[in-house]
Amino acid sequence: MRPFSFLSILALTATHSLAIPTRYITPAERGLLDAPGVLDNVVLFDAPAFPDPQNPENTLAFFQAYVSLRTPDLGVATTAITSLLSSLGINVGNDLNTLQQRIKLLASVGLPGKKVEVVVPGCELSGKLPATSVSDLGLAGAAVSLGSCVQNAIEMEASVLPGAMDSRKFTASVFPSKNSGFGVISGGSTLTDVDDTVKVSNVLDKVALLKSTFLEAPKAVSGMPELYTSLSKSLQGPQFVYVTGSAYQFYPFLNEFIDSTYASAKGPIFSQNLTVLNIPQAVEFLTSNQGTLDFKVATIDRLQTMYPQKKWLAIGDSTQKDPEAYATAFKKRDTISCIWIRRVEGADNSDARFNTAFADVPAGKFRTFNDTEIPKLADIDVAGGQC
Ligand SMILES: *[C@@H]1O[C@H](CO)[C@@H](O)[C@H](O)[C@H]1NC(C)=O
Ligand SMILES: *[C@@H]1O[C@H](CO)[C@@H](O)[C@H](O)[C@H]1NC(C)=O
Repeated sequence: MRPFSFLSILALTATHSLAIPTRYITPAERGLLDAPGVLDNVVLFDAPAFPDPQNPENTLAFFQAYVSLRTPDLGVATTAITSLLSSLGINVGNDLNTLQQRIKLLASVGLPGKKVEVVVPGCELSGKLPATSVSDLGLAGAAVSLGSCVQNAIEMEASVLPGAMDSRKFTASVFPSKNSGFGVISGGSTLTDVDDTVKVSNVLDKVALLKSTFLEAPKAVSGMPELYTSLSKSLQGPQFVYVTGSAYQFYPFLNEFIDSTYASAKGPIFSQNLTVLNIPQAVEFLTSNQGTLDFKVATIDRLQTMYPQKKWLAIGDSTQKDPEAYATAFKKRDTISCIWIRRVEGADNSDARFNTAFADVPAGKFRTFNDTEIPKLADIDVAGGQC
């Protein structure tokens, strides 16, 4: 016999003297090694919840989380972005604080292999996300079962199960909705106004976009918050969902804006995965509409899978790819009841564009509108089949 037996005797003795547990449970088995720890930061995204198709008494939630190193090096990123902005004639000036808030996630270092577990009071099970991804650095996402939930809230609070010695709380909202009734899909840029006066050429477009992304307080399109409040009543508490071509690194900014300015229309936000290698590349992504069409079509498809019986009103604008994305989604399944597109001044609002995009969508199923016409949209009986 070798030293091996001595060790096993020691282990046996230890186990016996403690009696319980009968077998030593390793930290890895308890999930502690790969749970986010005190040196990590977690962003939990607001989540839609929906009936489990296998057992409609149970609730599934589509959770997404991002785990990164707790202390990002803001200095390097700030310098990089400040010089890039100034090369375009944009002066950061007094807006340095805003800039640093907005680039926090862009500057962060995502961590793969972290397992996030989410608890929702009132639900039977905790949601266990798969480990954060290597390819989508630091991100994890999945539809997970919460078992049966006390279903009376329109918004529930979810929080990440804390790691050892960690007293911080990472929370998000869960928005449960039935597999029936109405939902409203909304583009991100549909909600905010970028200063129209500078939208005369592509170059200035880029300047306006970067200023509004990094430096300025967002401004709601006039009349739009009132329209969303009205829809929340006329469609009887629809599931509002925001699908933005922007990257998840700007999620906190958009989420805060919706919570404060569109408070009657809160809902989960779906954004694109962007692995940032450097700041110029991130800015290039922001100003290029990269992957937006495919992303929006895929996300709407995912929503329709969560709620196969729900009807949707899709609201977007003419700046990016909303007409094309919504028309594609309309043709794929028949649950999009109506499409509204805001004609943004300076964007491509030509008949040619809309005729091509909506070639196979019946005339009574979509409309475009300008800012003067926003209040009148509230009079349309979408629940009754009008559009
Ligand atoms: C983003 O990455 C996560 C983790 O890999 C994945 O679950 C999710 O589907 C991705 N989202 C998109 C839009 O690709
Ligand atoms: C919006 O459209 C209406 C009707 O087509 C028109 O009377 C109005 O002047 C337009 N408003 C703007 C701001 O373009």
